[in-house]
Amino acid sequence: MTCQYYTTPIYYVNAKPHLGHAYTSIAADVATRFKKMEGTDTFFLTGTDEHGDKIVQAAEKENTTPKAYADKISKRFQDVLPLLNIENDHFIRTTDPQHIEVVKSVLSTIYDKGDIYFSSYEGIYCFGCERFYQERELVDGKCPDHGTVPETIKESNYFFKMSKYQDWLIAHIETHPDFIRPEQYRKELLSFLKEPLEDLCISRPKTRLTWGITLPFDEDYVTYVWFDALVNYITALGYPDGERFKKFWPSTRHFVAKDIIKPHGIYWPIMLKAAGIETYNGLNVHGFWNVQGSKMSKSIGNVTDPVEVTEKFGVDAFRYFLMREMVFGLDANFTEDVIISRINSDLANDLGNLFSRVLSMNHKYFKGIIQGQSGDSDKGLSLEPEAAAALEGYTAAMAECQFHKALASVWDLVSTMNKYIVANEPWALAKDPARTGDLGTVLYELLEGIRFVAGLIWPVMPETSGKIMVALGLGLPEKGFFSLDAIRPWGQIPCGATLSKPRILFPRVEVEKKEDAPPAPKPFKPALKEEITIEDFSKIDLRAGKILSAERIEKSDKLLKLQVDLGAQTRQIVAGIGKSYAPEDLVGKAVIVVANLKPVKLMGELSQGMILAASVKKDLILSGFNGSPKPGSQIK
Ligand code: MSP
Repeated sequence: MTCQYYTTPIYYVNAKPHLGHAYTSIAADVATRFKKMEGTDTFFLTGTDEHGDKIVQAAEKENTTPKAYADKISKRFQDVLPLLNIENDHFIRTTDPQHIEVVKSVLSTIYDKGDIYFSSYEGIYCFGCERFYQERELVDGKCPDHGTVPETIKESNYFFKMSKYQDWLIAHIETHPDFIRPEQYRKELLSFLKEPLEDLCISRPKTRLTWGITLPFDEDYVTYVWFDALVNYITALGYPDGERFKKFWPSTRHFVAKDIIKPHGIYWPIMLKAAGIETYNGLNVHGFWNVQGSKMSKSIGNVTDPVEVTEKFGVDAFRYFLMREMVFGLDANFTEDVIISRINSDLANDLGNLFSRVLSMNHKYFKGIIQGQSGDSDKGLSLEPEAAAALEGYTAAMAECQFHKALASVWDLVSTMNKYIVANEPWALAKDPARTGDLGTVLYELLEGIRFVAGLIWPVMPETSGKIMVALGLGLPEKGFFSLDAIRPWGQIPCGATLSKPRILFPRVEVEKKEDAPPAPKPFKPALKEEITIEDFSKIDLRAGKILSAERIEKSDKLLKLQVDLGAQTRQIVAGIGKSYAPEDLVGKAVIVVANLKPVKLMGELSQGMILAASVKKDLILSGFNGSPKPGSQIK
């Protein structure tokens, strides 16, 4: 029997579960359920990542200890799983004693091998990300995730020789096209690996952070959270001697979003290689859910609670929406309008109506007793070829995690069946006693088609699948699902059995019409930032400046080095406007300068301030004046 191990990222316990976490977990659940249908032996892991600065800070805010705080939030993540119908085999926590032992043993192995060394280091560090950055990774001198200027810190720490394995990793990715999917993320990693890899700082001194796993070779340090967290994937299988580890490793695919592709695509395979463990089979990378067009964020107030959505629309509708709406690998947008429209059109209209129409006709014409037999192909009544085509499209797409395509393939069959009803006019056949046989066959084919659809939607909508199977008099097999082999043979609905009247599968969602309400203003994109007071604003020193010279910075198509006249002084400013302006067009222009911004180095060049520009799609338009103010004038 083939084996497959699927994992989700282990989620930080500094916030409660949201739509994004729900998506990854549901995607991994759907993939696992599908593998079960194929007859594969599966193991599905999720869990929580509980060490590090972020958790300490969150606990401090609640006046509690990191452990008590982690216990509380981890439980929330665990409690959400059954509500979303996620059937994980195990839930791991990085505070589990067994995990702590495994992290220490992996560290010791790598240390003994000589791939971890002690060194003093000065670098720029983002406390939000809990990691050091390289200048070239920053955007306008700021952390790309937090938008804050990283701090320069100097520390003695332990480093992992990642650079030693760079060539091996490049060769591995190149020779295993399936290692990172979809392709755009494989390319992204390969392009990142064109630059030399820096060794990874894998320790934090206890003088700065104690909430972590103590290094087995130095009591004064704890392990860097990512080095600790990634190991969870093997702890959960009982590494090194567990039966599960032998069985499921390395038949593993990790599900993650694009935000954590580097730790998974670079650190993790290299850690495994250094520890003498075969690397995992693959990484499935998906895009981000935005809500109402903006990144989810507390300050915008658009962080979406998956349980609330489920309570409002039903768990199957929510799972269907997530899997149907997002193209795996790309970003998607969540709004209530879109989910309602999917429910009404795909679920209530297409599938729900088909189901109730066919069962109602069977009642009306045959008192619920199943008449016909499998299709008479001479009359072209069989739906079997269409079902076989849907199954083929579905399995191919599922194998690639293209869940939206797999569902589209099933919905092609649904739509074929709806057209089949129109083409064969059962209501007309019912009026002609000579054609009762055909009527029986048409309804039988439709019931078979519905059985087929019910089987295929099981990974995404297990409850609906079960409801339909029960309504067709089939019930669920002992294992709780139909294997693909069991679904495939056509003609399984028992002739002569009586079916009860249909119930509504998906009620339509009525949208309240707010007739008198004024049209909602179009949201700002990106959404407005948190409100600030006039005192906050007065901290920003805005000045009129005049560009004296401009030149491109080598190796960057975006950055320009400007000399700007600010009256009393001339400032060098590095601005990311190189895609919108040619250097020669800038000389002499009056611009607005943020004059009291902490200086930073960008691509090795000092930048002493920032100039303001409007962002219009991919273009930047410099803000200026209606006149020519004296350089250095204050802007109020
Ligand atoms: N703790 C680390 C992961 C360690 S794995 C060894 C972490 N945790 S996290 O809580 O920040 O979770 C990140 C993951 O949550 C993403 O990779 C993705 O799976 C999911 N999502 C978080 N926000 C998301 C969206 N807006 N959209 C889609 N998924 C996102 O990183």
